Amino acid sequence: MNILVLFGGCSSEYEVSLHSAAGVIRAMAGRYRLVTVGITREGNWLYTEAGPDAIERDAWREGRCVPAALSPSRGDRSLLLLEAAGTGRIGVDCVFPVLHGKNGEDGTVQGLCELAGLPLAGCGVLASALAMDKHRAHELAARAGVETPRGFVLGRGYEAARAVRQAKALSWPVFVKPVKAGSSYGVSRVTERDGLLPAIDEALRYDDEALVEQAVPGFEVGCAVMGNGALVTGEPDEVELAGDLFDYTEKYQLLTARLHVPARIPPETAAAVKETARRVYRALACRGFARVDLFLTPEGRIVFNEVNTIPGFTAHSRFPSMMAAVGMDLAAVVDRAIALAMEDRP
Ligand SMILES: Nc1ncnc2c1ncn2[C@@H]1O[C@H](COP(=O)(O)OP(=O)(O)O)[C@@H](O)[C@H]1O
Ligand SMILES: [Mg+2]
Repeated sequence: MNILVLFGGCSSEYEVSLHSAAGVIRAMAGRYRLVTVGITREGNWLYTEAGPDAIERDAWREGRCVPAALSPSRGDRSLLLLEAAGTGRIGVDCVFPVLHGKNGEDGTVQGLCELAGLPLAGCGVLASALAMDKHRAHELAARAGVETPRGFVLGRGYEAARAVRQAKALSWPVFVKPVKAGSSYGVSRVTERDGLLPAIDEALRYDDEALVEQAVPGFEVGCAVMGNGALVTGEPDEVELAGDLFDYTEKYQLLTARLHVPARIPPETAAAVKETARRVYRALACRGFARVDLFLTPEGRIVFNEVNTIPGFTAHSRFPSMMAAVGMDLAAVVDRAIALAMEDRP
């Protein structure tokens, strides 16, 4: 099978995607014919024959690169290589986007694949767009009976006095974040009113809406979910923080934070976490795979945080580690993701 792997992306998470893509490509080695397209930070698509090491080092543009495009025409089912001498074609059986954040994990690329009639690994347009929007995702999870943090949304022209009043009503500390972003970009913990407006303005650098929500006590747990109809879950993991939030540096370097797989929680709690994760996955119409992140409070309440429809995919990332804990290594995860995509073949 020819698998088109998309990596990079016009997103603040470009760099993270390079590492995930290297993980996925290594896990596919020998079983698929790989077609790789790097999307630059500016959003240009380039076919590349660079291997995972060069991709990981962001050196993939040093070799031969050819401007490329996925035709939206359903009859094409191929990657078009836009060479000076003319248009070349490489057949594509399935697209595996390994893109994080805007313009990749948010339903845009998924829409292009659906339009082109190409099987797609992971969530489709609807689930991707909903999961990228933390506010709408909370509303749907709440309707499905899952507890969510109390909070409110502000747009660019927000009224400062009103924002302070509403934040106070939640009681300090509060978390302020872009409605649509990832990798902790623009996320702040605010402990008193003076910090609120700068935090909102910071969040609004990444998106045109900011979410202010109550701080949930306890710790974060994640749950890997795979499937279309019948769902399989990984073993939930636990984020042990030394600081106030799981920020960009901690996520990728784990300087003071630690990840525990499985989470150090009783089996009944782990079962409840899995059940809640499946419920959220269904409420957001997820398919293929997603990582559902939840908070576990000291009283044992499970509170929804967010869904990552394209979670980190390096060999040490959370999703693969959670699946490895139930006996599926990254190669098996990738095979399953492709098999699930082919079930959906348009
Ligand atoms: N309401 C909250 N209560 C407690 N911690 C939070 C809350 N919201 C976010 N955090 C902390 O901030 C981190 C990043 O926020 P999150 O909403 O998960 O954004 P991202 O999509 O960037 O991962 C979380 O991993 C968690 O440590
Ligand atoms: Mg998160």
